Amino acid sequence: MGQSLLIKNAAQVVTMAGHSEQPAKRDEMQELSIIENGSVLMQDGQIKAVGKLAELEQQYQEIIAGAETIDATGKTVTPGLIDPHTHLVHAGTRENEYAMRLKGQSYMEIMNAGGGIHATTRATREADFDQLYDESKQRLDTFFQYGVTTVESKSGYGLSLGQELKQLEVAVKLNQYHAMDIVSTFMGAHAVPIDERDNPEPFVRRVIDEMIPEVARRKLAKFNDVFCERGVFTPDQSRRILEAGREYGLVPKIHADEIEPYGGAELAAEVSAISADHLLKASDEGIRKMAENDVMGVLLPGTAFFLMAEFADARKMIDGGVPVALSTDANPGSSPTLSLQFIMNLGCLKMGMTPEEVLAATTINAAHAIDCADHIGSLEAGKQADIVIFDIPNYLMLSYQYGMNHVDTVVKRGEPVVG
Ligand code: NIG
Ligand code: FE
Repeated sequence: MGQSLLIKNAAQVVTMAGHSEQPAKRDEMQELSIIENGSVLMQDGQIKAVGKLAELEQQYQEIIAGAETIDATGKTVTPGLIDPHTHLVHAGTRENEYAMRLKGQSYMEIMNAGGGIHATTRATREADFDQLYDESKQRLDTFFQYGVTTVESKSGYGLSLGQELKQLEVAVKLNQYHAMDIVSTFMGAHAVPIDERDNPEPFVRRVIDEMIPEVARRKLAKFNDVFCERGVFTPDQSRRILEAGREYGLVPKIHADEIEPYGGAELAAEVSAISADHLLKASDEGIRKMAENDVMGVLLPGTAFFLMAEFADARKMIDGGVPVALSTDANPGSSPTLSLQFIMNLGCLKMGMTPEEVLAATTINAAHAIDCADHIGSLEAGKQADIVIFDIPNYLMLSYQYGMNHVDTVVKRGEPVVG
């Protein structure tokens, strides 16, 4: 018999069961499927059963007899949190720009002057593979400590074939050697290199003709993302880049309507993107089209908070039938945080989401945003045993006591990695 683990007698086990086929929408985002005084049995890295201890003991006596046991009395158990949008692999920090923004300069002004994404691109290009690996590994360790068990990771600080490959290969190696699961996105279209910005077309062509085919050939990414924003990539360039990726099997994602309304949500629907992310300034028409075409809205309230901008209208999206996920957008410029728990607080307090909705948005819907809901995102028999035990007596405490880390124990593929 393989290795087994029992988490027993948790005050609440939040399973999120029942939404593995389709993301939770509208009222479904309130359905947490909670088992009071519940237990979870795992074997060989997978969930064997979820329920009351007495029921599990009856059915799985032998496995339980040989299982390691964690007593979760008074605590709350949820699926491992999933962060579906990060810029994990990069070098350096930009606290100088933070200070400039506090004095009144805007994010785009700083970027147009050669800072912003360009500053991190310079630092990332200068960093060798091992430095990038080490910096990113530390971030993954912190993600674990805060209850995240899977992250999406974007390239986009290389902006040339070789440099983008370097970033993506760091993510592949981390996925191999770190217990965290990492799902990769190619984002060569994160910015036009500073020396080409007056004539972006050759760069767009390199993304389409050189980078996408090579990234796909080496199987380095599952998704293809583009920063569709005035002064970065136009909707037309974004469409061409996303369609080119699709031809090579890379599923479209898009940074849409972050700074200005720019037709990004509409474009996401047109190209059947799996998600449109940010959406601070998405139009009503764009939101309607996303709902019609089942495009996930990945909302990043940490970015609105940190850029001192208006928050995305989560209520309008959820009430309009857009499935919503939440993410940190972890990056050194617009959201230097690794705490998805804080993002949940912001979801409630700044975007009018309910504590139930923010849980759906960081578990099962986040899994759908990266096309992983068949094996993660909920506590159901047969799924990967990625689980968090929070040291709180009920799930409401998660978004109530804010700015704190409530994690007690993190279990990854059936093995404790934190706690
Ligand atoms: O999601 N908007 C574009 N990209 C990132 C920020 C990257 C950076 O500033 O380094 C974002 O906000
Ligand atoms: Fe981003």
